[in-house]
Amino acid sequence: MNASPPSADAPLIDRFARRITYLRLSVTDRCDLRCAYCMPERMEFLPKAEVLSLEELHRLSLHFIARGVRKIRLTGGEPLVRRDMVDLVRALGRKLGDGLDELTMTTNGTRLAEFAGDLAAAGLRRINVSLDTLDREAFARLSRRDVLPQVLEGIAAAREAGLRVKINAVALKGINEDEIPSLVEWAHGQGHDMTLIEVMPLGEVEGDRFDHYLPLDAVRRNLESRWTLTASDARSGGPARYVDIAETGGRLGFITPLTGNFCDGCNRVRVTATGQLYMCLGGEGRVDLRAALRSDDPDGALAECFARAMGEKQERHSFVIDRPGGVPAVSRHMSTTGG
Ligand code: GTP
Ligand code: 5AD
Ligand code: SF4
Repeated sequence: MNASPPSADAPLIDRFARRITYLRLSVTDRCDLRCAYCMPERMEFLPKAEVLSLEELHRLSLHFIARGVRKIRLTGGEPLVRRDMVDLVRALGRKLGDGLDELTMTTNGTRLAEFAGDLAAAGLRRINVSLDTLDREAFARLSRRDVLPQVLEGIAAAREAGLRVKINAVALKGINEDEIPSLVEWAHGQGHDMTLIEVMPLGEVEGDRFDHYLPLDAVRRNLESRWTLTASDARSGGPARYVDIAETGGRLGFITPLTGNFCDGCNRVRVTATGQLYMCLGGEGRVDLRAALRSDDPDGALAECFARAMGEKQERHSFVIDRPGGVPAVSRHMSTTGG
């Protein structure tokens, strides 16, 4: 028996009654940095010919919005290495207040000085910038590129353009572990929120992630011995759980895929630059939206894709980093899936 076709504006709800309202859209898997925990120096990127055009990214986003997505985050790789990025932000910005509550971006900041003004004018209000260390040498070693000054300039430009900035740092044993308190102090001193992230076993890298994995429960205890942390009800729509810090006057988030699973509250899916819909960051399950988009009946084909995706979205990831030499949970790098 055939189920009746889903209506064009039905909300996206998975088997676990989780409503999907947040789309992470990767606009390119390419990046101008090579952070050691993220990718190898010699990274193989997707062929450019397979990447969705700006017009396709826009059209696809409108389909998600029609199905109840209220927040879109543009990710990569590094989204700002795509030349037409501002045009996409401008086009999607027109949906703000008309289906979309928030349009935002996660960037490494290297090109923000050039684009912050245009992004703000196009409708962005908030931006997340990845910054793991303020030490120029440590930054160059970790990201394999000596560009900390550009990133700091980018962050300053974002602030001047009126964008709210959240600093994202992956907590890494032996790399930025000792610097975490001063990084938090710096971010809060600049008026930025900040979030710490546990490293995730996604794709092969040159080193062993086990060597640098730093559980955030331990980091939190350490910060509690230094400062007054008060759990906050604030939510930014993502997986971070926040505390307010009395002494710094700022907000700090913890993203704890390993020490505190948050999948029961999952509200998101991601689309890669080639139009593959991944229902979970930590799963292989995917649906080919590009084929649907390019078919004779895109509306019907996309509706079928969405129905399949909601039927197949897995309950949770099963990330573990508990011994040296462990294999990644999935072979895709974060830069492919878009985080
Ligand atoms: P806000 O809108 O500020 O809440 O941002 P966000 O945390 O949703 O997005 P951001 O791009 O800043 O992501 C921060 C980190 O959270 C990245 O490393 C993401 O990969 C990770 N993250 C986001 N969603 C998920 C998820 O569903 N599962 C896991 N394991 N990690 C996620
Ligand atoms: N584990 C955790 N975070 C990662 N990021 C990239 N790769 C990984 C990984 N394997 C982070 C970046 C950025 C965000 C989008 O994802 O540093 O802050
Ligand atoms: Fe690029 Fe982000 Fe990976 Fe760093 S973490 S190499 S900025 S995709």
